[in-house]
Amino acid sequence: MRIAVFVSGGGTNLQAIIDRIKDGYLADIDIGLVVSSSPKAYALTRASDNNIPSVVLSAKDFASREEWDLKVLNAVEEAGCELIVLAGYLSLLGKETVKAFSNRIINIHPALIPAFCGEGMYGIRPHIAALARGVKVSGATVHFVNEEYDSGPIIIQKAVDVLPDDTPEILQQRIMKECEQEILPKAIRLLADGKVSIENNIAYIKD
Ligand code: GAR
Repeated sequence: MRIAVFVSGGGTNLQAIIDRIKDGYLADIDIGLVVSSSPKAYALTRASDNNIPSVVLSAKDFASREEWDLKVLNAVEEAGCELIVLAGYLSLLGKETVKAFSNRIINIHPALIPAFCGEGMYGIRPHIAALARGVKVSGATVHFVNEEYDSGPIIIQKAVDVLPDDTPEILQQRIMKECEQEILPKAIRLLADGKVSIENNIAYIKD
């Protein structure tokens, strides 16, 4: 299965997918295109280091969001990608892309949805909010993407304990390493194996 990976920053989740392709767990997965919302994203270096084609498409460089949306959709379709993986992508996708790839877009969110999600909850912010609320566990969620922030069917979640000395940065690192980098490749594996079905906004996983 060929996938497009969308990024905005460091690209540790992109790296986790690349590593799992290399170690054979995702041997049948091919990253056809990396789409970045920013020219400064270190994820672009990871893509070029691994000979993966990439493109920078930022809405602010286009006359309208609609024009940008069609450009994104066109790039993904031209690259022959069947699944879009939002791996630390911090922009909201355009309507046409979401419609054309209905049930074929997944996102990794750094909290246990429905906690600490929605508009404005990205990057370090869910971890700041989790510590401010005093939750005892947090984690990450892979879910399908629809027109609203973080509200599509949940595919996989993984939790870790919140520890007394955690800062937002320490908690973020633990969740990236122990949750995100594990469940994002796992979700891609399940989708490639046709093991995920959706009914009434609930995702079901076949054994
Ligand atoms: C990750 O923690 C990811 O879950 C989060 O941004 C970080 C990107 O890291 N995504 C969101 O907040 C989306 N709402 P990365 O660029 O190193 O993969």
